[in-house]
Amino acid sequence: MTTTQPRKRDEHSGHEGRSFECSSVREWRLAPLPWAPDALEPHIGRRTVELHYGKHHRGYLDKLRAAIEGKPEAEQDLEQLVRTSQGHVFNMAAQVWNHDFYWRSLAPDGGRRPQGELLARIERDFGSFETCRERLAEAASGHFGSGYAWLAAGRDGRLRVLTTHDAENPLGGGLSPLLTIDVWEHAYYLDVQNDRGRYVAGVLDHLLDWDFAAQNLGRAGSVAE
Ligand code: FE2
Repeated sequence: MTTTQPRKRDEHSGHEGRSFECSSVREWRLAPLPWAPDALEPHIGRRTVELHYGKHHRGYLDKLRAAIEGKPEAEQDLEQLVRTSQGHVFNMAAQVWNHDFYWRSLAPDGGRRPQGELLARIERDFGSFETCRERLAEAASGHFGSGYAWLAAGRDGRLRVLTTHDAENPLGGGLSPLLTIDVWEHAYYLDVQNDRGRYVAGVLDHLLDWDFAAQNLGRAGSVAE
């Protein structure tokens, strides 16, 4: 398996036509973290990132590869697998994709107020950015069990907050994800134990990358046209 080094966030741009870089099943390669493992401190600690990326995320890719080795699925790209598979293969493929997306939803200089078209759409659909932030906080903090909270755009172009259980994500529901917050315990337990609300507040106020959301919104718009 290829080992890759963290890059500066600005070096990331379209990969195979996407607005973010996905891991490759065919090449058995995990997409690199967009920042150094300690870059999110104090909100998410280095050890959490090292375990989350190096053990959990990598483990999902290893299990996926083991499950499809020698089969036609091994030649598909990750998003294709997420959209077409079921059961164990879906769970592993979606977990790889979800984590690729989660890392890019976070930035060391995140948490800044969105601007431009994204802010206008948030204000249209939620009333204000503060209400959108509150909906995300409630969804992520209140979600029962493992899963993710998402900001996503529907086919009608409207933005919404939703949560998904376990490995599920909005791709199958015809939604275009803009941002996600991983609320599996492995995302925060080392840092704040069971205080998920503290982790969520740290992500929302200091880490969430609204520039990434704006890129995804642009892509969602071009897909809908
Ligand atoms: Fe996770």
